[in-house]
Amino acid sequence: MRLVTVVGARPQFVKAAAVSAAIGGTDGVEEVLVHTGQHYDVNMSDVFFSELGIPAPKFHLGVGSGGHGAQTGDIMGALEPIVEAERPDALLVYGDTNSTMAGALVAAKLHIPVVHVEAGLRSFDRRMPEEINRVVTDHVSTSLLCPSERAVANLKAEGIVDGVALVGDVMFDVLLATMAAAGDVDPVGERLGLAGRPYAVFTMHRAGLTDDPVAVERVLTAIDRLARDGLEIVFPAHPRVRALVASRSFAHGVHVIEPLGYRDMLTLTRRATAVVTDSGGLQKEAAWLGTPCVTIRDTTEWVETLDTGWNVLVGTDTEAIVAHTLRAAIPTEPFSAYGSGTASELVLRELINVAG
Ligand code: UD1
Repeated sequence: MRLVTVVGARPQFVKAAAVSAAIGGTDGVEEVLVHTGQHYDVNMSDVFFSELGIPAPKFHLGVGSGGHGAQTGDIMGALEPIVEAERPDALLVYGDTNSTMAGALVAAKLHIPVVHVEAGLRSFDRRMPEEINRVVTDHVSTSLLCPSERAVANLKAEGIVDGVALVGDVMFDVLLATMAAAGDVDPVGERLGLAGRPYAVFTMHRAGLTDDPVAVERVLTAIDRLARDGLEIVFPAHPRVRALVASRSFAHGVHVIEPLGYRDMLTLTRRATAVVTDSGGLQKEAAWLGTPCVTIRDTTEWVETLDTGWNVLVGTDTEAIVAHTLRAAIPTEPFSAYGSGTASELVLRELINVAG
């Protein structure tokens, strides 16, 4: 069986690590990895390949940044001849980025079965580019591999039942393996002198927030306030907010740093008092690591994190962010949604089914 996998943005490298490892140990399954180049900085891309042992991509499309139309179109134009030449039995995509949707559309139009890992998630907010990408990808996919019962139900509500399977979240597989190897170290915390001090991890990168200067200022005011109240803040700044961050000064106690590798991000998060974020992946990672999350959005597709009390949606109101972060508490029940760490094995089984 021959498989083309399309990745391009940071969270997809993490997901591909789990599945590529499962594929790598299986006779008769050949994976051709295509990197779209949506993310291209060393610390947004290369570091994940080396740290997580992901095989080098056979093709790198080098599309880089751009508007949604240009980026999606560039990926499709460059990918189509590759898929035509490789003639895979199936094409695998992860998540909800422009790379995901572009890959799915190219394969569907060439009548190649699309396997979507992380299918069925919905924020029900169509202003998010990710929501459009999810809906389109799911509706052209042959095999829809869901992380939760809710995702399966979301697909059913849209009339999609064929090819749907509940497999859990491959990100949990990667997290378990990484934490087992990480031991008790926390290099970033040590470097920043955080041992024994309370701190929160803060990230923001979503266009819906970063393109709104008023909302950004409300959030950053909250971050400054928290630091003044004695909660240090570690802020690995995504390239999307680089210019914004450079033009502003922060309160003492806010540590603005470069984006972190995967293991460093997890070990830092594990010891934090709270996470404040607009990321999707980090909401789950915080809960799995036993750290409560304050999400600076009005919706989330990871609703199970809310139901269990590990996460709260606060939007971008300064007072709400400060209050919820200061009183963030660890729920009594450990977080156990999204499978048991065997999702990548189940994905592999479904891939073999689809490819016949
Ligand atoms: C993308 C995904 C988002 C995902 C996120 C993870 C879409 C629509 N969005 O958002 O769902 O949560 O990746 O990070 O696909 N940039 C660099 N270097 C890089 C990457 C980006 O400088 O390596 C800068 C560029 O200025 C670029 C901006 O960041 O214009 C945004 O990058 P882009 O890939 O378009 O979207 P993300 O915000 O990363």
